[in-house]
Amino acid sequence: MPRNNALISQFIRGEERRQFKDIIKALALVIDLAEGYDAQHGYNVALSSVQLGKFMGLGPDKLRNLFYAGLLHDVGEVGFPKETEDYDYFEWQDNPYIRPHPLIGEAIVSHLPTLKKAGEIIRSHHESWDGSGYPDRLKADNIPIESQILGLCDTFDVAGSVYADKSTLSQRLSPVLRKRFSPDVIQYFKKMLAEAELWGARNFNQMAWQELGIDAVDLALLLDVEVDYFKVTLKTFAHVIDAKHQYTKGHSLRVGALSRRIALEMGFVEEEASTIERAGFLHDAGKVGISRCILDKPGPLTDIEYGRIKAHPGMSSALLKTVQCLSDHAPLVRHHHERFDGFGYPDKLKAEEIPIGSRVLAVADTYDAMTSDRAYRQGLPDKVAREEIIKYSGKMYDPDVVEAFLKISGEEIRLLFKEAEQSSSLIY
Ligand SMILES: [Fe+2]
Ligand SMILES: [Fe+2]
Ligand SMILES: [Fe+2]
Ligand SMILES: [Fe+2]
Repeated sequence: MPRNNALISQFIRGEERRQFKDIIKALALVIDLAEGYDAQHGYNVALSSVQLGKFMGLGPDKLRNLFYAGLLHDVGEVGFPKETEDYDYFEWQDNPYIRPHPLIGEAIVSHLPTLKKAGEIIRSHHESWDGSGYPDRLKADNIPIESQILGLCDTFDVAGSVYADKSTLSQRLSPVLRKRFSPDVIQYFKKMLAEAELWGARNFNQMAWQELGIDAVDLALLLDVEVDYFKVTLKTFAHVIDAKHQYTKGHSLRVGALSRRIALEMGFVEEEASTIERAGFLHDAGKVGISRCILDKPGPLTDIEYGRIKAHPGMSSALLKTVQCLSDHAPLVRHHHERFDGFGYPDKLKAEEIPIGSRVLAVADTYDAMTSDRAYRQGLPDKVAREEIIKYSGKMYDPDVVEAFLKISGEEIRLLFKEAEQSSSLIY
């Protein structure tokens, strides 16, 4: 019956919208984690930008774009070198290392279904009213109003967390605001600050979303999307995770692709193989919270440093649990460093106690880590990596998984990896 079909497809679209929003929220969390910001920066900026936008009379479409732009505005910063840490915020803005981030952010976000406009807002969030901003040196009213709003809310959120004392805050902030933003936007902002409780409280909760009408705004989302938005979104997510570290570029995408291929070889049906692939895309999400000083350390790690590394599967799984449609992937991710003989981490699970998906991830993860280049060595050839995996079959790896893996030729894996990396170069 057509009517039923319409209802079902309406339901599915509703589901997709919810899933999409959940994943983007998780991605915003990852960005905050990578930046070492207080874990609400993306949310704070998104919510306050929407609030200010509403205050200024922007319509639902503009508010929706502003909301996603706010959540993701710092996505282009994830791969920044250590030199950008420990900078005074007001100087940090002009640090040459960070200058590319609005453009990188736009490239990443525009890759997500329906977020092209949000990408444009991100591009211009460091433009300055007096024309001294970047990347396009736009001036005055040539700067999109949404970017002005986002830039102001961003500046205020960061400065507000640095200077707790109100008079120091306004002393440092006033000249910056005058230089960077339109007198109009500043005036609205001040008025809003005086009137609105939500913004003053600087905290995020479900009520706030509803109050701001985010869900209503969301209804416009995804209606015209033809692509497999779920996969594209998760691949973008994987790309952001890998950007944390130059030597992991493409790692999560390759692990996802190879895990899926191994699962199919083992006779899993398409949907199960896709679940394992998705877990592969996100398995190292928790790594973005580890300092580059530890990730880049050439010498042996101290116990504390090693402890930080060992915490990453737990952090990845905690993150996945925040996303309803991915929460059943959390155990797969949690156990990707368990060993078949029970000497792995974090829970020392053994053999069949380890979810099968995690046992598949473990082989794909090792293979990619061994065959890709690192700071201190070149990637190993396929043959050597295989020998190593065979050597530890039954100790580190499930022999059944190893058997299936060995049936896939080195040439096939090379092509698989090439394809996975291509989708990552689409973004940068
Ligand atoms: Fe920024
Ligand atoms: Fe920011
Ligand atoms: Fe890992
Ligand atoms: Fe990994």
